[in-house]
Amino acid sequence: MSKTIFVSNRLPVTVSKHESGLEYKESIGGLATGLKNYHEQGSTVWAGWPGVAQDDLSEEESSSVADTLRNDYKCLSVPLTSDDIEQYYHGFCNETIWPLFHYFTSAVEYKKETWEAYQRVNRKFFDSVDPLIEEGDTIWIHDYQLMLLPQMIREKHPDVKIGFFLHIPFPSYEIYRQMIWRDEILQGLMGANLIGFHTYDYVRHFLSSVRRLLGHEHSLYKMQLESHVVQVDAFPMGIDYDYFAKTPTKENASQETMDFVKSTQNVRNIISVDRLDYTKGIPDRIKAFKQFLSNYPEYREKVRLNLIIAPSRVGIEKYDNLKREIEELVSEVNGEYGTFNWMPVWFFFRTVSQDDLIAFYRHSDVLLVTPLRDGMNLVAKEYVASRTDYKGMLVMSETAGAASELGEAIIVNTNDHEAIAAGIKMALEMPEDDKMDRNKNMHRRISRYNVKFWAEEFLNTLQGSPEEKIHTE
Ligand code: G6P
Repeated sequence: MSKTIFVSNRLPVTVSKHESGLEYKESIGGLATGLKNYHEQGSTVWAGWPGVAQDDLSEEESSSVADTLRNDYKCLSVPLTSDDIEQYYHGFCNETIWPLFHYFTSAVEYKKETWEAYQRVNRKFFDSVDPLIEEGDTIWIHDYQLMLLPQMIREKHPDVKIGFFLHIPFPSYEIYRQMIWRDEILQGLMGANLIGFHTYDYVRHFLSSVRRLLGHEHSLYKMQLESHVVQVDAFPMGIDYDYFAKTPTKENASQETMDFVKSTQNVRNIISVDRLDYTKGIPDRIKAFKQFLSNYPEYREKVRLNLIIAPSRVGIEKYDNLKREIEELVSEVNGEYGTFNWMPVWFFFRTVSQDDLIAFYRHSDVLLVTPLRDGMNLVAKEYVASRTDYKGMLVMSETAGAASELGEAIIVNTNDHEAIAAGIKMALEMPEDDKMDRNKNMHRRISRYNVKFWAEEFLNTLQGSPEEKIHTE
């Protein structure tokens, strides 16, 4: 029986080592949720890094991790050493590709050693999945960490269906061309039968880079190579709409969160939720909130910004510096505008559970999500879905992929603090019927294009992708 193999840098379960032993924690991220149904019910295997360095485990622990992942989670562990993590994950993935693809060109580091590690680790992933691959299988590879893997698999297994989805933006050709190893990366991706992106802008950028760098023209988003046809399309990722819309707040959220959200009922609440990342525009958001308090003094003591930031990529200098910058900005606003009875910004640096987030979302009048650049941004969709009373309002920057689907939100330029401040005011003052209309439209869209729809659409397109020659002129 043919099977589907999912491959991503991280598995849907993360292993960590403590004094008390090994801990297995299931992930609640978008990808894990989207593929959950398939993975639980279908004939599937999920290959990826378990989240702990191989050299931190004894041989016995390593084999116990591999066995538990295989038997209890249908996962194949791809073991990475601390050197791999340093050079490939921290290095090429997060200091080269991540900043470049998010248009942070001056932050990009080009290092031959980390590029070599990227090739070596992609090869490690290949070596791990290779023995599993049989005729008729479908392989779905995820994200920027594994862009060389499609071609590695194609060379050895020319007849399997290979899909690739990029979860981050694909930048314009003018940005992409700055990558030293630009041809190699495109060639790696072109091993796939189907390449998916969140938006049509990313599709256009990719096709333009392929045409200018590799010389392949497309006809209706398909390119004929000697060995196979590559199809490219947009598949905007959704959320588990029913979960966010239907989970009852009081029963599932923690007491601590419920106490907090209740204590905030005498002010209007603005919330923002992110992973700690310089692409998310957090310093600009705090500055814009300060501008709001300066421009509209009538709102002082009447609003509060709840800034929830999840720790991420600890140990990369740019991320550590960002945390300090945020702390300084938060104290600046609180020092300047705070009173004995009121603190304008509440900063929570922790990972908040999904059920607690739903409680926060439902008690917030405004979600402020203003990334400088974001592949999609699922938080925006989660907020809209959670507010089934249609009374919340979303203020979002145009540089989030989600902005192309959520046009009813108040869309702002993230560099324009005055515009964000005015956007917050507009959201707080928007008449109920206007909010209702806008939210209903957004609900209709995100309930239909939910994450299960996304996964099904991608896999159906991949399974039906053309093998015959296509017509190109
Ligand atoms: C983004 C990327 C994912 C990544 C996630 C968390 O959403 O597209 O591939 O897994 O961030 O980052 P981390 O570095 O912790 O895996």
